[in-house]
Amino acid sequence: MALPVVDTEYLKEIDKARRDLRALIAYKNCAPIMLRLAWHDAGTYDVNTKTGGPNGSIRNEEEYSHGSNNGLKIALDFCEEVKAKHPKITYADLYQLAGVVAVEVTGGPTVDFVPGRKDSKISPKEGRLPDAKRGAPHLRDIFYRMGLSDKDIVALSGGHTLGRAHPERSGFEGPWTREPLKFDNSYFVELLNGESEGLLQLPTDKALLEDPEFRRYVELYAKDEDAFFRDYAASHKKLSELGFSPGSGSKSTANDCTILAQGAVGVAVTVAVVILSYFYEVRKRMK
Ligand code: HEM
Repeated sequence: MALPVVDTEYLKEIDKARRDLRALIAYKNCAPIMLRLAWHDAGTYDVNTKTGGPNGSIRNEEEYSHGSNNGLKIALDFCEEVKAKHPKITYADLYQLAGVVAVEVTGGPTVDFVPGRKDSKISPKEGRLPDAKRGAPHLRDIFYRMGLSDKDIVALSGGHTLGRAHPERSGFEGPWTREPLKFDNSYFVELLNGESEGLLQLPTDKALLEDPEFRRYVELYAKDEDAFFRDYAASHKKLSELGFSPGSGSKSTANDCTILAQGAVGVAVTVAVVILSYFYEVRKRMK
């Protein structure tokens, strides 16, 4: 499929879909699984082969049946309701918009959203998403492959401030925080508190404490929520735009406008100069 044309019409649809997503997420209480969907569509990106990434391919049965995507069909079906009302919007944009809205409506930072992602029917092979049973080197392997950094790894792990694990989906159980529908820095606070009854810590979560470079950010985010929100918003935007160069549609419209405006000013100045020199000549002759 070609790049969607991000014109005024498309932007209007995005705005309407954003409202519909807010309502749907409030009604179904499904912010966590919508965020997980956005992350699993984007998190397959490979910076070297430029494959995978936020391209809507998770809608293919071949991909949503990967073990790591267990349960995400629920979120895909919710998104289908919004897609039916706004068919112009690509799945790739829709899933990322759902992730951004999920963070926003649960009290998290505003993540800048730029539309224009292309859909793909090609799904990557299974195994590109992280395995929760492993440690820091594995996290680095996976996130560096996406082109992301240590800071991104820790900030994005803070996404576990929302939601819970379900034994029938992942084999793990329970929420990471006491208020799993509130986006705040409590994931880091609880992580530093150590294991508490009823709360979950995956081996990959604990790895953030054991690695000194990761731990630096865990400590910062636990004591400074503003720093977490600032870094989370930046890392989430990066994740949502892996392999996508925003602006090919919308920016060129802006550039076209600028060029047009510059052209109009140029013509006006030329016309004014011609008229003035004409009158100057006429007056000279009359003297
Ligand atoms: C760092 C590596 C990561 C690992 C190993 C990991 C692993 C997991 C696991 C095992 C679950 C439980 C799934 C279930 O049983 O329902 C889960 C849920 C979740 N993950 Fe992650 N995750 C990681 C990173 C992220 C990132 C980067 C985000 C978003 C920015 C995220 C957002 C979520 C959310 C919101 C849920 C809750 C879903 C729900 O309540 O249905 N995760 N994750």
